[in-house]
Amino acid sequence: MSVESVNSRPTTVAGTLREPPVAGGGLPLLGHGPQLVRDPLGFMARLRDDGDVVRIRLGPKTVYAVTAPHLTGALALGPDYIIAGPLWESLESLLGKEGVATANGPMHRRQRRTIQPAFRLDAIPAYGPVMAEEAYALVERWRSGQVLDVTTESFRVAVRISARCLMRGSYMDDRADRICADLATLFSGMYQRMVVPLGPLYRIPVPSNREFNRALADLHLLVDEIVADRRASGQKPDDLLTALLDATDENGEPIGEQEIHDQVIAILTPGSETVGSVLMSLLLVLTEHPELADKIGDEVKRVVGDRPVAFEDVRELTYTANVVVETMRLYPAVWILTRRSVAETDLGGYRIPAGADVIYSPYAVQRDRRSFDRHEEFDPDRWLPGRGGQVPKHAMAPFGVGNRKCPSDHFSMAELTLLTAVIAAAYRFEHAPGSDTRPRIGITLRPRGLKLRALPR
Ligand code: HEM
Repeated sequence: MSVESVNSRPTTVAGTLREPPVAGGGLPLLGHGPQLVRDPLGFMARLRDDGDVVRIRLGPKTVYAVTAPHLTGALALGPDYIIAGPLWESLESLLGKEGVATANGPMHRRQRRTIQPAFRLDAIPAYGPVMAEEAYALVERWRSGQVLDVTTESFRVAVRISARCLMRGSYMDDRADRICADLATLFSGMYQRMVVPLGPLYRIPVPSNREFNRALADLHLLVDEIVADRRASGQKPDDLLTALLDATDENGEPIGEQEIHDQVIAILTPGSETVGSVLMSLLLVLTEHPELADKIGDEVKRVVGDRPVAFEDVRELTYTANVVVETMRLYPAVWILTRRSVAETDLGGYRIPAGADVIYSPYAVQRDRRSFDRHEEFDPDRWLPGRGGQVPKHAMAPFGVGNRKCPSDHFSMAELTLLTAVIAAAYRFEHAPGSDTRPRIGITLRPRGLKLRALPR
């Protein structure tokens, strides 16, 4: 079914659109807030039983949740929904308003044109040597029997790869650790500000707010340093930072300093947080399913032999790639997305009023029993050629859909496949005391605090 046919489906009664049903289990005054805070993943996953579009009450506010994959596609592709809403408001102090992740309309289109060449399929092989170097630097730092703090290790390698590939230069070495530490503080603080919007209370100078503000100021300072260093160097390597510094607006004028700043942040932060989160989930999967790790090891031996894995091998590491894809199905780093309607719209026959906040959860959609057989089971073979086609359209979209789709889908898949191959070929893992596998639900989804013992193969 095409998105157009969904939007124009004549499901209205006598020309009027239906109001979406209200989700079950709401409490007087508080609505569904307590359920959403207590068990956000379970709550989102159960909503489709109530309808393809349902209303959720958060105190006095009504939010529209879209649960069916064909309608999440229509939402992401429809011109009447823009990037706005609670998720984006909570991110605004970090991402600003002038970067590609938060801009809308003509500005967003122009910015996508500026950044897109750096992520094109034919641009990605040039990043291969950095990805491979960082993957080997990671496993060579680990010692047999060492207990790894997986959160730190994963974010670190993700930041280093994004920064070194897209903003070339060794000046990143000193700064990668600072970026990681700042982002860890910021992303947990922002999720709290999204689900518990206490406004001015976050300005009270208690330690947690002070720490949040310090990390925010440091990250903005860091970005200014990166831009200033590049300008002072007088160099113009062929990378994304050069493209941003040389970008012009609709009138051919250089873009402003604030936009450059917001653009650098918009590239560095989502790139690091998402890849780091998926890598943590991958390490959990390798630990809990050692048979998958063995199969990856066998594939690496067969394809690569005894030499190091290179970027050029990634295309042939199909089993490894399917483990990455299946990990992103069950543990999508971006587990919730929001939009705002700019006009009253018809979404699958339901009325969405102008100005409504609309949410959907890739986590819920990708675990839906109506779309996937054995929906909770980890099965990389479901992505074998010929079998992936059984999945309904838009039911598997960990990188999003439409004009806001992640520009880095190919880059990230190559990076994660290479990292997984190098790691699984070198080590197997077991949980160390204190390893916490529970999901940590923030702006992204990841295991809460994995501590793994690395054992050589
Ligand atoms: C947007 C997921 C890696 C940069 C998005 C969106 C998703 C996503 C779902 C769409 C948001 C929406 O529809 O509202 C992921 C996942 C990643 C990943 C799962 C890794 C596994 C990266 C990397 C970068 C990046 C490595 C940059 C280096 C961006 C940017 C946007 C975006 C700039 C905003 C695009 C726009 O609004 O036009 N990502 N991402 N992402 N991602 Fe990624």
